[in-house]
Amino acid sequence: MSSVVVVGTQWGDEGKGKVVDYLAEQADLVVRYSGGSNAGHTVVANNKTYKLHLLPSGILYPNKLCIVGNGVVIDPEKVLEEIANMKAQHVDTSNLRISTRAHVILPYHKILDELQENDLGDKKIGTTKKGIGPCYADKATRTGIRICDLMDKEVFLEKLTTNLAYKNRLFKNMYNAPELDLDTVYQQYLVFAEQLRPYVADTGSLLQENISVGKKTLFEGAQASFLDLDHGTYPYVTSSNPIAGGVCTGAGVAPKQVGTAVGVVKAYSTRVGEGPFVTELLDETGHHIRERGHEYGTTTGRPRRCGWLDACVVRYAAQLNGLDYLAITRLDILDELATLKICVGYKLNGELIKHIPASLKELAACEPIYEEFAGWQQDITNVRAYKDLPENAKRYLERLSEITQTPLGIVSVGPSREQTMIMCELFK
Ligand code: GDP
Ligand code: IMO
Ligand code: MG
Repeated sequence: MSSVVVVGTQWGDEGKGKVVDYLAEQADLVVRYSGGSNAGHTVVANNKTYKLHLLPSGILYPNKLCIVGNGVVIDPEKVLEEIANMKAQHVDTSNLRISTRAHVILPYHKILDELQENDLGDKKIGTTKKGIGPCYADKATRTGIRICDLMDKEVFLEKLTTNLAYKNRLFKNMYNAPELDLDTVYQQYLVFAEQLRPYVADTGSLLQENISVGKKTLFEGAQASFLDLDHGTYPYVTSSNPIAGGVCTGAGVAPKQVGTAVGVVKAYSTRVGEGPFVTELLDETGHHIRERGHEYGTTTGRPRRCGWLDACVVRYAAQLNGLDYLAITRLDILDELATLKICVGYKLNGELIKHIPASLKELAACEPIYEEFAGWQQDITNVRAYKDLPENAKRYLERLSEITQTPLGIVSVGPSREQTMIMCELFK
């Protein structure tokens, strides 16, 4: 058995797509296990940039089985759009399989996402408005519609009728918003159903069959540890479990079938959407990082909030995910800075604390304790071996590795496949 899980250690957009695409070459299967089209994974390959939201980042290789697991929420229109885009770029999508057990995003989920956000006013979460929260809420209250339901006209009509009647009552009586027409939604989704049918499979069984004959599996995390519904900065989180533990429920494998864990760490911190951010930089340095790093969301285009690398966050993610290796990305974005900082501890009410507080009030009151590092102030985008990185860059990375007690496995100095240094053997 040989499997690797790639997870985000911060607040998303760490470069998971790049790392998964890079590692996919060595894998037989690439599996998404959580989230939905709120994810935006960018892969640069063959001189082209691909923006993936629901399709696993292994899709660019012709012979990899790409699975969208039961833990993912599927917007049929979006996934079909992505498939069409891939086909237009001559990417073969015939190896894509979507779980019969995955839940379906319906138009009312997206409308509710927007209405709930508007209702929250200045307390809004800052969601991607893709209907993620409302769809997972229906899953949890056991009223959701799954892909297997969508595949059966009668079952789908029955469930849609019940659900829509309820959502329309909400729209009309609570939000004073227009109601949706049952037949319009039904007919639209029947068309989607037929287009999706060739890709639909019992992905849990498929995965088990492949694992049992020794196939190498790569699990692709979306979102990140601090956006995890249970372990992130609740309520400013997503509605699923992106951490390594989520692989079991979201793909249908046992804990002992999840092998090596790789945590992707952006060389600094960013966050899109609301919520506490202890190392946020609201000054010229934050602005410099955002502009030099083009830190604008892949999914929504929103400017990302930028800050210093927070080793407390990465250390917690290392414990939570049982990280075997760190994969550092976007180190090159720091090339021009004269001084860098890493947050190595939090002070709360004048006391050094060792944990990340659950209470947002306490987290917001935490002050970062920084260590300073001299920058390298040279272009590192052409470095291809770890030993050739400037000493100051190595010092910065090795201190992070020391604080998090996790070895460096990958260092990335640019978006393309060639700009990757690998110092570990992942698939054993
Ligand atoms: P994901 O959501 O974790 O997959 O990350 P995103 O794709 O949303 O954002 C990461 C961005 O950084 C993408 O535009 C990648 O192409 C880019 N990227 C990844 N690694 C590197 C790197 O080492 N250097 C630079 N400059 N860009 C990178
Ligand atoms: P990738 O996979 C960054 C954030 C949203 C918002 C919160 C809840 O590209 O790293 P949601 O729409 O999920 O209900 O929004 O989570 N968020 C992300 N931020 N990268 C992502 O995915 C994200 N997916 C969700 O901005 O703060
Ligand atoms: Mg992203």
